[in-house]
Amino acid sequence: MRTEHMREKLVIKGGKPLKGNVTVSGAKNAAVAILPAVILCEGRCEIDNLPNIEDVRLIDYLLCKMGAKTQLNSTTMSIDASGVTEHIVDNDAVKLMRASYYLIGALLGRFGKAEVCLPGGCAIGLRPIDQHVKGMKALGAEVKAEFGMLKAYAPNGLIGTDIYLDVVSVGATINIMLAAVLAQGKTTIVNSAKEPHVVDVANFLNCMGAKVKGAGTDVIRISGVEKLHGCSYSIIPDQIETGTLMIAAAATRGDLTIENVIPTHMEALSAKLMEMGVRVEEGDDSIRVTCPNRPTHVSIKTLPYPGFPTDLQQPATVLLSTAEGASIIVENIFESRFKHINEIRRMGANVSIDGRMCVVEGVERLTGAPVRATDLRAGAALVVAGLMADGQTEISGVKYIDRGYDHIEGKLKSVGADIHREKMSDAEEYEFF
Ligand code: UD1
Repeated sequence: MRTEHMREKLVIKGGKPLKGNVTVSGAKNAAVAILPAVILCEGRCEIDNLPNIEDVRLIDYLLCKMGAKTQLNSTTMSIDASGVTEHIVDNDAVKLMRASYYLIGALLGRFGKAEVCLPGGCAIGLRPIDQHVKGMKALGAEVKAEFGMLKAYAPNGLIGTDIYLDVVSVGATINIMLAAVLAQGKTTIVNSAKEPHVVDVANFLNCMGAKVKGAGTDVIRISGVEKLHGCSYSIIPDQIETGTLMIAAAATRGDLTIENVIPTHMEALSAKLMEMGVRVEEGDDSIRVTCPNRPTHVSIKTLPYPGFPTDLQQPATVLLSTAEGASIIVENIFESRFKHINEIRRMGANVSIDGRMCVVEGVERLTGAPVRATDLRAGAALVVAGLMADGQTEISGVKYIDRGYDHIEGKLKSVGADIHREKMSDAEEYEFF
């Protein structure tokens, strides 16, 4: 794991339209579930199209600490988890990432018991895990949080059952799937999340021999099997990286073709961009975004898939900050997802916040400033702001961006952006920490 990212900043000289072709990496949110899911199988898995990001390196580190044999080569990973014999993960690294909660579902599924540090991750709201716990309890586990650990025990094994989720939760849907694939009998998850990465995880589990049906709808049916076997699997392209690049293309009034994408995953964003007057052309596995004119205002409400993704709300807000007219954004998923607004105000944006809603009055232009990323998608939003602003923007908190974006500055540079990474000075570090 690298820690020097804490001390780096991205420096962007804005105002250059993004032009050309750029390729999207594998989906972070699928990868961070699929890698822990390997714990469930007896055998070797070869995972391809992994994003080259900190979260993947962190899970690799944890799997190795737990006894798995792994070989990570930038976008591929070979994992044999048969050496994992311990159900307790008290490594502090768990707290660095929200998705470490998938270790609980995977260990509980394999051993009938799990003890894992309570998860960390981006501070974008309360982010409870009551629905994960509800699902595991319904499957027959005793679950309690104690001394900073979540402990789940099912001494008599897990038994399939019907589980109704009170909120549509990606994490709970996937975690319950992980726990249920080796349970006795049938499990039904009602009101499940339908995100593309939920489907990808289900496909991966099926590739290992699980019987999961209905992923991508709001009812998932799982028939428990005795054991799972190794397999080779290629992860889907990242929907959020795709969306961030589409927004960056529009924000810089560019002409960008984004490759290795699944256009149907992008429908909510494509529709909104077209409503703004941006041109979006879909190919089989590419999307071209052109934006010769100033976009017009729109209203956005974030919703579970196939609604507008909360992970693209922050970059979209930035794009709208220079659109014509006033846009209204309602954040329905996470209650604290407007932290980027204070930063873009420093760049000249005119935005007011009222609880879960913000009103963005479009200004003519943003101007570069030193700003700070407070979480992963806020960081991506500030990169978009830097690309569209006049003058120089310096973004600290790069470690958040590196958690989820594969070589963001290299990709942007290849399509015309003036962006590079620098070490922070002592004074900047002092201010930042
Ligand atoms: C996942 C994604 C994240 C994305 C989010 C929503 C990963 C690793 N992260 O996060 O990028 O922004 O989905 O698309 O895939 N909730 C509860 N109880 C629970 C679980 C969730 O009340 O037990 C609430 C949350 O507070 C939130 C909503 O449900 O308001 C959706 O959260 P969820 O889908 O679980 O998000 P994550 O899985 O954490």
